[in-house]
Amino acid sequence: MSDSSKLQIPVNRNILEMEYAVRGPIPQRAAQLSIQGMKTIPCNIGNPQALGQSPMTYYRQVLSMVEDPSRIERERKLSKLVKLSSELKSSLSEVDLYPEDILAVAQNFLDKNGKGLGAYSESNGPLFIREAVAKFIDRRDGRATDYVAAKPNQIYITNGASEGVKYVIDLLISKASDGIMIPIPQYPLYSATICKAGGTQVNFYPDEESGWAINRSILEDSYNSAINNGTTVKAIVVINPGNPTGGILDAETINEIIDFANERNLVIIADEVYQENVYGAEFVSFASVVGKRQVPLFSLHSVSKGFYGECGHRGGFMEVRNPPMAADSSLSFLEVIQKQASVSLCSNTVGQLMVLLMVTPPIAGDPSYDLFIREKNSILDALEDKARLIRAAFTQMDGMEAFGRTGAMYLFPRMGKLPVGTNDFDYCMALLEETGLTTVNGSGFGQKEGTFHLRIAFLPPKELLADVLPKWIEFHNRYVNK
Ligand SMILES: Cc1ncc(COP(=O)(O)O)c(C=O)c1O
Repeated sequence: MSDSSKLQIPVNRNILEMEYAVRGPIPQRAAQLSIQGMKTIPCNIGNPQALGQSPMTYYRQVLSMVEDPSRIERERKLSKLVKLSSELKSSLSEVDLYPEDILAVAQNFLDKNGKGLGAYSESNGPLFIREAVAKFIDRRDGRATDYVAAKPNQIYITNGASEGVKYVIDLLISKASDGIMIPIPQYPLYSATICKAGGTQVNFYPDEESGWAINRSILEDSYNSAINNGTTVKAIVVINPGNPTGGILDAETINEIIDFANERNLVIIADEVYQENVYGAEFVSFASVVGKRQVPLFSLHSVSKGFYGECGHRGGFMEVRNPPMAADSSLSFLEVIQKQASVSLCSNTVGQLMVLLMVTPPIAGDPSYDLFIREKNSILDALEDKARLIRAAFTQMDGMEAFGRTGAMYLFPRMGKLPVGTNDFDYCMALLEETGLTTVNGSGFGQKEGTFHLRIAFLPPKELLADVLPKWIEFHNRYVNK
């Protein structure tokens, strides 16, 4: 970089080697092109509001009241005035006037929290939020056989799901031969965190042509070859619904993965941030299937995805089941994670409030309920619709094929045809230069040797897609046949 001094300082090689394609060379080139005046479409990342998705009214109304509590009283006064004046009433819409339940939810948060948003909270998040998260998990999973109720003291409120993942992986990797099994392709948070911690990435390969299915022999092949190479496998990561694949796991597969982990004393890291993004399919959580089996399970959820799309607010939680002890110490994982969280004092308090709102949506009969459901359905329906449009475009692209169901926020088609000597990175870069469409090359997530893919987030507004898809089809058929 031109602004650097000549001073040389030895640094952590792991950080130099760490890679994160979602913000890699293609998005960086897109940023340059955009400065030069080109209209780019950032489909490289699952960041819905960056692509025009409106925030849910309910969340923003509560957030604004809690940030400025003096507005609660002002809103109440305004409501009274409106009731007295039919002229005022007719000039205000449903959204202009904050419904009473918004004010009550905000006031309730302030009463329970006591300190408002400007003070540090407990490191693992306020107890009343962790209690609400536990109830949410029980509501979601409580009907399952052998279900064990969630415990608030086994829940951590974090800065996005990413922070929880880092706590666990940092804790598990104590030497270079410690390995973590991850699906390939994967969300690069996992490869980057393993690399930074100096551990070994152990790949397993879901079966693309069977809709990214996972089975025993896939897991055993990966585990056995790692063990034969001297790796101590300590954990398995599962992303369900999958990023980048969109694959959705059924209860039977989840059960098989839990049995596999149980037999080998592996920790399970279940990344479930896309649990609302299943478009007609059923989401099955690991917590609902694990039952009484004593497998350590770390499940993650986030306010960034679903229909909430509040990525910038950095809210998430991690729920721990069957926490193990840290060997050669008197500490359980719960205590060590608490210590990790306490080093940065607490997660951000607006993100904590967003987590509370995510797990306690308005219920039927609440004044905000109807609008909430309308907005939720409209976001999820639009996502499904856009995925369908993009899939339909693939059918007009020579050799392009997307396997499996639609889940999460991404499509990950395989490119069956590319000019000799080129790869998916070259393709994505050329696609960007020509159309402004910013995608990520499959190699950024890992992929089976000899295959080529790209990932596209199905987030842009339909009008934008209607404009860019024909250009992409035209580009594709010309590029792959040159
Ligand atoms: C599978 C997966 N896990 C975790 C995250 C990070 O989520 P958060 O914003 O909650 O840190 C993402 C973000 O795209 C993701 O795709």
